Amino acid sequence: MVKAISVENLSMTYGNKKEKIIAVDNISFTVYQGEIFSFLGPSGAGKTTTQRILTTLLPISGGTADVAGCNVLTDAKKVRTKIGYVSQLGGADPNATVHENLELSGKLYGLSKDVTAQRIDKLSKLLDFHELLSRFVRTLSGGQKRRVEIAQGILHEPKVLFLDEPTTGLDPQNRANLWQHIKKLRDNGMTIFLTTHYLEEADALSDRLIILDHGKIIAEGTPTELKKKISGEAISIELKNSRDAEKMKQLFNQLAIGNVIETGMNFTIYTSKGEELVAHIFEYTKEHHIELANISLSMPSLNDVFLALTGQELRDGGKEGEQ
Ligand SMILES: Nc1ncnc2c1ncn2[C@@H]1O[C@H](COP(=O)(O)OP(=O)(O)OP(=O)(O)O)[C@@H](O)[C@H]1O
Ligand SMILES: [Mg+2]
Repeated sequence: MVKAISVENLSMTYGNKKEKIIAVDNISFTVYQGEIFSFLGPSGAGKTTTQRILTTLLPISGGTADVAGCNVLTDAKKVRTKIGYVSQLGGADPNATVHENLELSGKLYGLSKDVTAQRIDKLSKLLDFHELLSRFVRTLSGGQKRRVEIAQGILHEPKVLFLDEPTTGLDPQNRANLWQHIKKLRDNGMTIFLTTHYLEEADALSDRLIILDHGKIIAEGTPTELKKKISGEAISIELKNSRDAEKMKQLFNQLAIGNVIETGMNFTIYTSKGEELVAHIFEYTKEHHIELANISLSMPSLNDVFLALTGQELRDGGKEGEQ
């Protein structure tokens, strides 16, 4: 397998001597050519910082990184010709048309008018916005705008594409639609490194992923490999009243269930005897007049992987549009 991105002991610290923020804390990883690779992590995990280092927009505090065979520090110019980057905020000018935006991108990449025109035609069809070329960007929906911005990011046919939170703010249908387009780019041979705080997105889209928290890698693998780390099924219980928490804990003690993760009024248990245990819990809560807001039994998700590793819900990252 050919390496598209290779990162060794990378660190990035913001701030001065008085106040230091370690945004990226000594991380190493490899992204292979032709894969969709994701960083999944809560707000402030260091996802954008890592991408901005790899796209040569930020310096490095420690370690090394190569992208498309070039070093990001010593060969930054060459790196820039080989990558595309669509930032978290997007970059399309709302007061220009889609066509004008793409023409400007072509100019910035130093492409000829002819080549630019050909690629606008090709990409607008591939990413399904051919009909929108004469529209002002400000009139587009979120999903349409994102597809245009991705086209801007790949007009020069880069080897590696960086997408920072490509679907934030999109509704589930538009999100799923964009996933299909991103997969198409991968199937055409592009390497894609994306960041996300959506569990479902990381699960559905990534060939491999890293879970990042507080600047550190806490897990790495395919979505299936990561979920397999959690043996058995997950029972989640949500209480209506916090005063019942102690009584619930007594039940867990009685049943000698050791591995209970408690977050507020929620308890999560991983077990190989899911149904049996749920039946016990129902019986017990009825007997002790404990009101449940919710109880569910499911196969482990990436949220469970995060929960098991950190003791916190990834959902607690709490962002607009979070599921
Ligand atoms: N320019 C900056 N100056 C100081 N601190 C910064 C700067 N940029 C980011 N940070 C801090 O670095 C840490 C990592 O930020 P980063 O933007 O990389 O996180 P993220 O994972 O992309 O988060 P989000 O999901 O919210 O986009 C955070 O604690 C953030 O406050
Ligand atoms: Mg970010």
